[in-house]
Amino acid sequence: MKFSEDIDNVVRESNAFDNDFFANCHDESRKVHINDITRMALNWYLVTKHFGLSAQEYDALLARRLKYASGKKAKILQDLLVESAMISGDDLGIGHERLYTENGGAEIPHNEKLHYKLWGDMTKTLIKRAQDIRWPISFPYGYGVPEDEAERKKAFEKADNKERQDQLVKDFDIGYLDGLNILNASATGLIHSSTYDLVSRIEDEFTSLEGGVAVYQTVESIAYNIVVAYSDLMKRVGSGEMFTERDLVYLEIHKPLEKDHDTQSTSMIDLADRYFGQRYRPVIETKVRELSGLFGQFWEGMNDIVFKGETREPTS
Ligand SMILES: [Fe+2]
Ligand SMILES: [Fe+2]
Repeated sequence: MKFSEDIDNVVRESNAFDNDFFANCHDESRKVHINDITRMALNWYLVTKHFGLSAQEYDALLARRLKYASGKKAKILQDLLVESAMISGDDLGIGHERLYTENGGAEIPHNEKLHYKLWGDMTKTLIKRAQDIRWPISFPYGYGVPEDEAERKKAFEKADNKERQDQLVKDFDIGYLDGLNILNASATGLIHSSTYDLVSRIEDEFTSLEGGVAVYQTVESIAYNIVVAYSDLMKRVGSGEMFTERDLVYLEIHKPLEKDHDTQSTSMIDLADRYFGQRYRPVIETKVRELSGLFGQFWEGMNDIVFKGETREPTS
């Protein structure tokens, strides 16, 4: 078995690849609220922005190594750089003109096609719509107040917290979104702790050759699942009228792109394996496992936000 197949399995068997959040996104019987989806979208904005821009830094790292390499290592670095540049270039919206044109993105200028910007545009539509809806919003703990005092206290705390989050969505200044990053985002009060853990790990890993390969492998193996889950989720909240085709361009273009990225990142694993040799395999495997774990926690966080932590099997 090729090393990349082992590594693929590490991701596939983790909660990063399949989880309650994805299942709930596909389950039409699950009720969703626009405030919660808006919150989720803000969290994903940070992940996709820091991933996409850190990938560009990783290209530079590979280029620097290649400049001073020779022989077999130079050849491998050259291949790694090309694979990385293809994925990271896609994330800047470079190339694939027809794909954008066919999915409502014909008018988007090049400097607005950066993928995190496309996601940000859809997020702005969500924020605006969430802010248009009038109070009051639904009572968060459902019917009746629990009799048990401890339970009641917990329910009220949850309700208070939810009310505070809803208020923060209402108060969010849309002009603030483009400048949002992992260092200033806590001011929004809307970012989940798992988002910080995930994003800072992605940033760290992209500063080393083996770490970057691990990030790509993890992200690109689950990316298709992410996009189809988000698509179903947005269909439910948008109910066909809220989003324009332009808003949904991020989701549509990624469906075909992620299939390619999956193949490209898998070949990067085999290239890294040749570069470092077999003794290095545990290092890459550990990184992929840990990144998958962080993604799993992130989806659990998003499941808490959007689906109140409901598991995929309805509890009776
Ligand atoms: Fe992308
Ligand atoms: Fe991708």
